[in-house]
Amino acid sequence: MTPGARHLYVHLPFCAHRCGYCDFVTAVGRHSQHAGYVDALLSELALERGVLASELDTVFLGGGTPTFTEPRALERLLASLPPASEVTVEANPETVTQELAHMLRAQGVNRISLGVQSFRPHLLEVLDRVVQPDTVRRAFHHLRDAGFDNISFDLIYGIPGQAPHDLDADLADALELGPEHMSCYELEAKPGTRFTHAHGEDLERQADSMESYFELVVERLTGAGYRWYETANFCRVSDRDLRSRHNLAYWLGRDYLGIGMGAVSTIGGRRWRNTPRLAGYLEALGRGAVPEREIEPLSIDVLRRERVMLGLRLDEPLVLGDLARVVDDRVVSRLEVLGLVQSDTDRQTLTLTRRGRFLGGGVTADLLA
Ligand SMILES: C[S@@+](CC[C@H](N)C(=O)[O-])C[C@H]1O[C@@H](n2cnc3c(N)ncnc32)[C@H](O)[C@@H]1O
Ligand code: SF4
Repeated sequence: MTPGARHLYVHLPFCAHRCGYCDFVTAVGRHSQHAGYVDALLSELALERGVLASELDTVFLGGGTPTFTEPRALERLLASLPPASEVTVEANPETVTQELAHMLRAQGVNRISLGVQSFRPHLLEVLDRVVQPDTVRRAFHHLRDAGFDNISFDLIYGIPGQAPHDLDADLADALELGPEHMSCYELEAKPGTRFTHAHGEDLERQADSMESYFELVVERLTGAGYRWYETANFCRVSDRDLRSRHNLAYWLGRDYLGIGMGAVSTIGGRRWRNTPRLAGYLEALGRGAVPEREIEPLSIDVLRRERVMLGLRLDEPLVLGDLARVVDDRVVSRLEVLGLVQSDTDRQTLTLTRRGRFLGGGVTADLLA
């Protein structure tokens, strides 16, 4: 008998347009379907309520562009979701008005993840972003004025046309606003997409610079007093713990329920992914049935490997316990000599060193038996 998942992800797929680099489950426009989609989400939540704990730690509304959802539908959704200590909404800057910021606050949202990506107009254009840097600043101030004291920025680096001084300037612009949290992602471009076709050569050039961009990000943000608590995530050091509690739950291998089209859940050793088709999702829930799903049973071995892969992304030592079974002791010794991992005296915990963290997934994959 599991005590129930304490983390809820809600997928809101609608966007004003599709950005060329984006590989998320999205749907463009569809205003007339927003209210119906919220009905479907609430039906799915009612069907799955039993897998959730009576009290939740975190709720995360991700997208798509949650703040592009028709405001009355979004408000109704927020009012109907179970309360949680951390409630995050992803927002695109151009959608953040004073009214929206106040509505989110009034509905119990206490954390905003703002999709900034860059403050350089030429790079925003490459990314198909409709926003101007000043729109980002305005959105940030609307959120602050509405009382948000936990704001995160998403930034992307390795954008075609980006030079190191552009990234430096992006980081400086972000730091000037001083959000509580920043996520800095290396641009991933899927082979075979229009974006990759249009920027192929430049993407290859950028791939060669990724390591130095990553180092620049870590150097600048830690130098400005942010804690590098996860490979791509930084939070201001303060008397509050400003790490993303929702994402920490993923990295620590906690159970979570995901609702919405394309949403993934992992509960009690089973992972399932809802259909990414809007029509199919709405149709199933319209007749009170669970949507079509891909179900993947997860063996203990797979779960342990995931825990090691994800746990070593964090700056805190990974407590091995049963996880020691999937870690190759000889590789640990070798990587210790190379200065990439650190373990305590009796191998109870494992941490990547600063150098190991820069090399990231490659080091962790080597460690797995
Ligand atoms: C669910 S996405 C999009 C949220 C929001 N709609 C936006 O565009 O800002 C969350 C974040 O993932 C990152 N992201 C999306 N596509 C990416 C890609 N191809 N490579 C790297 N990061 C990406 C962006 O930083 C984005 O803010
Ligand atoms: S707005 Fe965000 S989710 Fe929508 S297409 Fe652009 S990057 Fe993807």
